[in-house]
Amino acid sequence: MGNSLNLDLEILRALRNPEGAWVSGSDLSRELGVTRAAVWGRVDELRRLGYEIEASPHQGYRLVASPDALHADDLLARMSGSQLVGRDIQVYKETGSTNDTVETLARDGAAEGMVVFAESQTRGRGRMGRPWLSPPGKGLWFSVLLRPSLRPQETTRLTVAAAVAIRRAIGNLTQLQCGIKWPNDLLLQGRKVAGILTELSAETDRVRYLILGVGIDVNQRASDFPRSLAKVAGSLLLASGAMVDRAALASEVLRQLNRDYARVCAGRFAEVAEEWESACVTLGQTVRIKIGQRLVQGRAEALDADGALLVRTEHGRLDRVTGGDLTVETA
Ligand code: BTN
Repeated sequence: MGNSLNLDLEILRALRNPEGAWVSGSDLSRELGVTRAAVWGRVDELRRLGYEIEASPHQGYRLVASPDALHADDLLARMSGSQLVGRDIQVYKETGSTNDTVETLARDGAAEGMVVFAESQTRGRGRMGRPWLSPPGKGLWFSVLLRPSLRPQETTRLTVAAAVAIRRAIGNLTQLQCGIKWPNDLLLQGRKVAGILTELSAETDRVRYLILGVGIDVNQRASDFPRSLAKVAGSLLLASGAMVDRAALASEVLRQLNRDYARVCAGRFAEVAEEWESACVTLGQTVRIKIGQRLVQGRAEALDADGALLVRTEHGRLDRVTGGDLTVETA
């Protein structure tokens, strides 16, 4: 007999059939090896969580609407069982930073592919030590644990892969086509709607684990951003005028991440880089990149085989940059 968690997952998986068809209660109880009363009990509990599930004595159950909340079993139910990224999912109502939560799990030996979402973060962080606002219910804040067989200097490939995967997922769900600002910001109408914070635990020539932290601003309205971000921050809602189903977007992002992670692991980074380059709004621009105390200025020309940016400086030299804070110089 399955425990209640697995029951919820299996019930949601059955209800999420492609046609949204009725699912018979007796079929469910037989397939899951529990009584019809047990199925009914779980359906009742899902209703309490905000799922609208219709019940009919002759036809069974039918999913009518889902709450605007992230629920681990529901995210799992939306994905194929063979997927590595998202094979295990945890959802926190609130955490400090999902990157830290995953780091603790990684140290305890968690398997790669595990994903932690939080409805809100109290200490969400961005690149360059900046804070990352993560208000409840407005966006997707999550981190993925990966254990790639890559050398540390090759891991920029995974940030590049994450950027194209998130871009594709947003496009599939909303038709919005994001631009990519190097290294990993996704922009719509010149405003940032998503960012990636990759953190690494590595030895000299071996990655122990890598944490891919993703923040997507989904349903914020202009008034949800502080004045300091008014000109630079955007959201999918602001760009499209329509609320976006966060759970549907979350599962689509994990599907696309799974695909691009597989591409990188299979030695097909060149394909990923090509997709990145075609969406990149930085290439061809005159840029200034601050890397700690160092400053690189020049024309952004291309990505190299590891995902680093190649910048042609005014002296004609090609500088290779793997990270930093980039601004585009206006003519
Ligand atoms: C950036 O563009 O500066 C990167 C932003 C990354 C934010 C995400 S939200 C989930 C994860 N947890 C964090 O504390 N940060 C990342």
